[in-house]
Amino acid sequence: MRLLDKVVVITGAAQGIGFATAQRMLTEGARVVLADRSAVALAEAVTAIRVGVVLPASMTLADRLLTALVDVTERATLDAMVRETDRCWGRIDVLVNNAGITADARLSTMTADQFDRVVAVNLKGVWQCTQAVLASLLAQAGGVILNASSVVALTGNFGQSNYAAAKAGVIAMTKTWARELGPKGIRCNAVCPGLIDTPMLATIPPAVLEKLLERIPLHRLGRADEVAGVYAFLASNDASYLNGAVIEVSGGIHL
Ligand code: NAI
Repeated sequence: MRLLDKVVVITGAAQGIGFATAQRMLTEGARVVLADRSAVALAEAVTAIRVGVVLPASMTLADRLLTALVDVTERATLDAMVRETDRCWGRIDVLVNNAGITADARLSTMTADQFDRVVAVNLKGVWQCTQAVLASLLAQAGGVILNASSVVALTGNFGQSNYAAAKAGVIAMTKTWARELGPKGIRCNAVCPGLIDTPMLATIPPAVLEKLLERIPLHRLGRADEVAGVYAFLASNDASYLNGAVIEVSGGIHL
């Protein structure tokens, strides 16, 4: 149990990669805060975890799972989550900044609202959530921050000036925090998924998806649990010398 009794906060945890990461962290012994802006999806996630996650006999989900209704663009909701986590478990060890959205359009048609919404969630939301959690990590002189970037931060992508820019900014913040917080015992790393089979891909037309698959040497989409496994590794002491790293989980999509 690499994450025994570690307290892990995961944003955007009600579905997709965040949800798979919550399941994986629970099976590795962690206490998990599922933080998301969708109350309905959070309730469904808890039900799915009750049915699907098998814990050792000595553990019960009741004292291993919290939910928090947060919007990473609303600081007050994040502060409330930190207070509640502190009240229940007295600490936070790991933050996974996973919440993210897309609002795609080519440069000629993208609206300022599309640009601002994506930057607000995917870039400022990561900064804001980390700032809200930071005092908890510093209080223990240790911890891990994991940030969701994307391969498009490294390559750019048609129709995603907002998303690619935000995800590239996430890498820049990751490296900055690795420098600022490393001396205080806090490691910070970024993960760059490629094409992962989650609800986020629903907006990509099937014909476009088919073409993209041809570019992946493994010839398939990634699964959410394949990203979750990387987050679990990065959160654990197996990654104790990784700091400021940018890890691609993409099947080699842009080789
Ligand atoms: P998803 O769309 O399946 O799930 C995202 C979750 O974030 C949802 O539960 C949603 O309610 C939540 N969320 C959205 N805005 C929020 C906000 N303001 N506050 C709190 N929660 C919010 O997405 P998926 O695919 O699981 O992606 C997770 C992360 O990985 C995102 O940051 C995404 O950009 C990134 N990523 C995903 C890739 C993919 O192919 N699925 C590829 C590269 C990066």
